[in-house]
Amino acid sequence: MALPLGLFLGGCIVAIPVVTGVAEGVEHQKKQNAEAANETRMTKFNALVSCESKDELADEVENGIVVLRHGKAWVVPRDDGPKPAPAPKLDPPLHAFAGFYIQYPDEERSPPERGLVSTISDDPPMLNWLYVDRQTYEIKYGNRSASISQIVGEWDWTQDESALMLNGWEGFVVIDELDGAEEDDSTEYGREGLRWALYYDIEDNGLKGKRKGRDMFEVTLQRHLQSEEDQLKQLEEANKKMQVATRGGLKTQFTAPAREQQRKSEQANQH
Ligand SMILES: *[C@@H]1O[C@H](CO)[C@@H](O)[C@H](O)[C@H]1NC(C)=O
Ligand SMILES: *[C@@H]1O[C@H](CO)[C@@H](O)[C@H](O)[C@H]1NC(C)=O
Repeated sequence: MALPLGLFLGGCIVAIPVVTGVAEGVEHQKKQNAEAANETRMTKFNALVSCESKDELADEVENGIVVLRHGKAWVVPRDDGPKPAPAPKLDPPLHAFAGFYIQYPDEERSPPERGLVSTISDDPPMLNWLYVDRQTYEIKYGNRSASISQIVGEWDWTQDESALMLNGWEGFVVIDELDGAEEDDSTEYGREGLRWALYYDIEDNGLKGKRKGRDMFEVTLQRHLQSEEDQLKQLEEANKKMQVATRGGLKTQFTAPAREQQRKSEQANQH
């Protein structure tokens, strides 16, 4: 059986399937297993941004793309790729969200929650969980220990599978972290001119108490499935890396017999 790309990239997060408590019942278990086996959920997608506001400022996010940087999700302009518009001065370059759904591995969460992972770098291939910070309502990314006490699901798609949802609705907004300034030398993102950070409006009240008077717009996060070509390319790259790893393994297999021989000849010499 071919290993789905996501599982390989996932490495440490392979979380399938799925032995849950008896109390949850067989039906739920069946559903979980079907879900876990459903590779449609594991099709990788980018997140494109649309914004219905007529405000002139909203042009900065309309047609944008979600990128991951400095621990948070941001909306930046994109080219036709769909990729972030080139930002030649940024090193490392902007990394677009490229993610898929998979169950969040945490026995304390019962029933289990469907999480969302994204690559955070292509080389080496690394995945992190997307989560909502319980204090600030920012959308952030991190490993399991960074995310486990935060809101990690239930991530979903809308009924037509075209857009992202969290906990049953699309409560995504962007906030101007620079509060109208051109840039801000006191933060890394400010120096890079990153402005529009993604938040989740948990209480559906326009981020009361969190917004702090900054400009804010509601956004829709459209799932843009990566082309088969792109996915294949990544799979090939992953395979290449796997072969390198395998060769490493073979080497130890080949040195083991040599060592055995050496041990035998040493024993023979002693006699
Ligand atoms: C997998 O998910 C897709 C999209 O929701 C659905 O159409 C399909 O029936 C599912 N397949 C299985 C085996 O559950
Ligand atoms: C997880 O991320 C935190 C930072 O959020 C880091 O300090 C820690 O080393 C990471 N753990 C692993 C296992 O990579």
